[in-house]
Amino acid sequence: MAQTNFNPLKIKKDFPIFKNNPGIVYLDSTASSQKPQIVIDAVTNYYEKYYAPIHRGLYGLAQKSTDMYENARQKVAKFINAENEEIVFTGNASEAINLSAYGWARKFLKKGDVIVLTEMEHHSNIIPWIMIKKKCGVELFYLPYDKDLRLDYKKLFSSKIDLKRIKLVTITHASNVLGTINPVKEIIRYYKNKGIKAKFLVDGAQSIPHIKIDVKDIDCDFFAFSSHKMLGPSGVGVLYAKKEILEEMDPLFFGGQMIKIVTKESATWADIPARFEVGTGRKEAVIGLGAAVDYLEKTGLKNIEKHENELTKYGLKLFKKFEKYIDLYGPKTPENRLSVFSFNFKDIHAHDSADILNRSKVCVRSGHHCAQVLMKCLDVIATARASLYLYNTKEDLDKLGSAFEEVIKIFKLQ
Ligand SMILES: Cc1ncc(COP(=O)(O)O)c(C=O)c1O
Repeated sequence: MAQTNFNPLKIKKDFPIFKNNPGIVYLDSTASSQKPQIVIDAVTNYYEKYYAPIHRGLYGLAQKSTDMYENARQKVAKFINAENEEIVFTGNASEAINLSAYGWARKFLKKGDVIVLTEMEHHSNIIPWIMIKKKCGVELFYLPYDKDLRLDYKKLFSSKIDLKRIKLVTITHASNVLGTINPVKEIIRYYKNKGIKAKFLVDGAQSIPHIKIDVKDIDCDFFAFSSHKMLGPSGVGVLYAKKEILEEMDPLFFGGQMIKIVTKESATWADIPARFEVGTGRKEAVIGLGAAVDYLEKTGLKNIEKHENELTKYGLKLFKKFEKYIDLYGPKTPENRLSVFSFNFKDIHAHDSADILNRSKVCVRSGHHCAQVLMKCLDVIATARASLYLYNTKEDLDKLGSAFEEVIKIFKLQ
């Protein structure tokens, strides 16, 4: 049952990092989120009380350990409205996308086929498809964004592409640079109504921490995400794929755990999803992810969305106040937008401004954010980025504003 009174100050207390680093203003959750105590406890508890190999031992402890692992799969499946066997645990979102590229696209796509992606993709949703282009001879078509930095998905129809050749559309649900939330459900429905018979992959790495996900409602074929961005431990990600697609996909890695029968000359594969989870599993990380899902459910995604939308509005006002000094890269309106602000002080390198913000304990990211295609489109080499999550407050944004004043003072900006 979700909480009714969402109080970010109370939420902050759930995250020991803030107590252990007094005064810190953590604005880098897009890169990786902090962890609540219940996730940390779930991992240590598992090590202290239940640790044993999974899926093999017949003794009680091994059975308990297996149950905890599979229970976490069930939680993740329920969280996104999928079936248990549609959840494959990978190393992270990048590996999940690679699994769909090498397990599905490499098997089924051929020369002349087209993959549609967007100019706002993270490298993790570009490079696997460049590799598929090299291996299978497919073409890549990049959807542009419009002047408001929203995806111009209808542009596909003014291109010369023969729609019948499109076999995969792969889109980030939310941009890790612009904060733009792409209306993936509408896009998929629109494209399908236009007769596009492609598979649809959604890179959900940036959406699942913030927005309620229902893969059946979105009607995507693949949905990829990482635990570490949604309050869970590092080292585990998820590929959701429709059951019938997983059934026809090839495994990416071969060895223990993913087999049915092995002889000297041949091997057959385990049922899905075990077929795609080679070797000894990421037990503690998966169990921690289950606890993160519990925490998000208890807090309520609707509450998180509402709180973050308030932060987005407040943040946009802050950037408006500094617009004489700062360029903001992202939609200027709070609708369908995450609380992610990529920016540059005019004529100052992002690393320099990030370094000065750090003197005020304000942690922002600077660089190309694994989005060099987008950087090129924006005509910048790097940006600084402040990204917020459920534990951030308006006071954090006020501190960001005060730190901006420092940058202006130090660089004597006029
Ligand atoms: C939109 C998007 N996709 C994919 C990824 C890759 O996630 P990971 O590094 O956990 O594999 C990221 C990471 O920042 C991202 O922002």
